[in-house]
Amino acid sequence: MLCFPIVSLSQLPIDEMVEFRFDLFQEFDLNKIQEARRHCKKPVLFTCRNKEQIIELAKLEPDYFDLDHTIEKPFLDQLKIDFPKVKWVISYHNHHEVPLHLDEILLKMQHLGGDLYKVACLSPGLKDAIRMYEFAKKHPPLFGIAMGEKGEFTRILGLHSGTPWTFATLSESEKTAPGQLTKEEYEIYGSGKTLFALIGGSLKKRKSHIYHNRVMRGLGGVYLKIPLEDPDELKPFLEFAKKNGFKGLSVTDPLKEHIIEHLDHIDPYAKEIGAVNTILFKEGKAHGYNTDGKGALDAIEKRMFVKGKKVTVLGAGGAAKSIIYEALQRGATVSLLNRTREKALKLADKWNLTLLDEIDPCDILINTTPVSFEWNHRCIAMEISSVPKETPFIEKALSLGCPVIYGMEMWTNQAVGQYQIWMPFLDRTEIFTALSNAQAT
Ligand code: ATR
Repeated sequence: MLCFPIVSLSQLPIDEMVEFRFDLFQEFDLNKIQEARRHCKKPVLFTCRNKEQIIELAKLEPDYFDLDHTIEKPFLDQLKIDFPKVKWVISYHNHHEVPLHLDEILLKMQHLGGDLYKVACLSPGLKDAIRMYEFAKKHPPLFGIAMGEKGEFTRILGLHSGTPWTFATLSESEKTAPGQLTKEEYEIYGSGKTLFALIGGSLKKRKSHIYHNRVMRGLGGVYLKIPLEDPDELKPFLEFAKKNGFKGLSVTDPLKEHIIEHLDHIDPYAKEIGAVNTILFKEGKAHGYNTDGKGALDAIEKRMFVKGKKVTVLGAGGAAKSIIYEALQRGATVSLLNRTREKALKLADKWNLTLLDEIDPCDILINTTPVSFEWNHRCIAMEISSVPKETPFIEKALSLGCPVIYGMEMWTNQAVGQYQIWMPFLDRTEIFTALSNAQAT
């Protein structure tokens, strides 16, 4: 269940579970509060830190009452006697860190004798968010909230693992804690039980989790979006994913190469490329694959077979490697241009490629960098980035009259490849249609 915190009576959504944040209310008018409480159709939670107000508010018999963990035991004991219908939630907040002694904190709170307990801590890193989630899971029905962007996914997981409610807002501007999600954001995720996720950096603008969840709804899965930029977080995250029943991951920059050393098994094709964009968890082991190159080349070969054609790749990162390798497999001649020449030189040596200083005439030009380039001939021009749709590279290609392939087309193909790894029983065409429809709705 979602619970909506409000800081003024004018925000009251009567059809939802509501938390009245009296600690943040500007105006305290008991008559108006009583009237508002009467209109609520779902359970209500009162949060208050002022003792006199607590007693007055308890007379309105909210379903739940949140008290700070510093409350004195005799005061709470009396409240429990005077207001037996109210369930008392004892809460601890830490806006700086996830302390190491969480068990000790909980033990002290339990000593007060509440009905439910809530521990909410700001999680600066992914490791903190994981620790918070695992702590909460160990003590059900504890509300363990990892505040901050790094903890967003634990709020969604919490809903799936039986937390009585989780806090949400109706709009972005009403958020009262960092990392809180809106109702709309929660609704992206269905009630599936099999866990998948996208991991990588710069995920804020990405929408692929929306498309995946539309497809996953019918397949019993949930697809999370987990920001993970620091490669040092990979090992603890993979351990967490294995322990918590994850089935698959999509991996994006800057992790496609870093992740290899943390895998239990790597598919020979991905090993040759030296980059992984897909993980399958099977019998407690993480298996790495790469579907990027095939995704890109399938999109290109809808227009032109690459065998014997001149392909120029811009950039020399993980995506470039996958595309180059697949293009070579399909018989293309590949040239490479990259800002950092040494990086390109390594690939050129490995696969016998031509290294360029500027773009020569070619049949197919593929951009794997975030910038555009200067060139003057007509060719098929492919962008691998899907956000935004019209990149400066695409604009330049269109101005030259080039047929263009947008990043979303490669994305769809590489995602189809991922589903074939995660759920090999699915029909390829059906998955392609489902992913295409998910983008259209
Ligand atoms: P991915 O794994 O998606 O390919 P990446 O490893 O970050 O991502 O690679 C991005 C590519 O874009 C790299 O080749 C990078 O060039 P360098 O090897 O010189 O770092 C290239 N790139 C990134 N920003 C660029 C810029 N401003 N101008 C030119 N090339 C850029």
